[in-house]
Amino acid sequence: MTKRVALLISGRGSNMRVILEKNISADIQFLVIANRADSAGLVYVHDLVHNASETGIQTALIPSADFTQGVDFDRALQQRLDQFAPDFVLLAGFMRILGSEFVNAFIGRLINIHPSLLPAFPGLHTHQRALDARVLEHGASVHWVTTGVDEGEVIIQAPVPVIPTDTESDLAARVLAQEHIIYPAVLSWLVSGALRWDSGRMHYDDSVLLWCQNYGYRTPHA
Ligand code: GRF
Repeated sequence: MTKRVALLISGRGSNMRVILEKNISADIQFLVIANRADSAGLVYVHDLVHNASETGIQTALIPSADFTQGVDFDRALQQRLDQFAPDFVLLAGFMRILGSEFVNAFIGRLINIHPSLLPAFPGLHTHQRALDARVLEHGASVHWVTTGVDEGEVIIQAPVPVIPTDTESDLAARVLAQEHIIYPAVLSWLVSGALRWDSGRMHYDDSVLLWCQNYGYRTPHA
């Protein structure tokens, strides 16, 4: 059965791009929404849609700068999403904190990727903060979104080593390469039903656990 997936971006959009390029399933309809007109990811997806006759990708721009109140932006976003009726909404470098009204409307369908091993380093500038804290290990987390920022239950984490000579951009690149593996994987599990949110909690099949164990990724219950 066709699944409907919304990808919310603000800037570069590399996670969105790998998700679109990995061709996770022919049965996914995508809606990409950007909140900034200068998002490079939006430019990429416009080109993609322009150059292909049938991509199964819709796009929308809802500039958050046009709204003085965050809650009004959230409502405009929700209205567009409700028209699309997404099974899942993936935040992929979406640089807005969404209010509780929005989050509660999509709970169990709303997922984020964050560039740290949560609960370490929520918020911004995670790579520099990891370097400053001299941690030996850093990484990325995919998690369900709840009303607390970067606080929802973790689905999967990709650890990477921190090398003493690392610059912020070295570390960011190492983490991003892992993001590009785990976010498409999570979407494929959501689409296949191997990963579910039901009655207020996460459920996943053994296949998810095995994949994580085989490839060195972490799930909270492994
Ligand atoms: C990624 O590091 C993601 O974890 C964070 O924002 C960054 C977005 O990168 N939430 P991109 O726009 O997907 O390239």
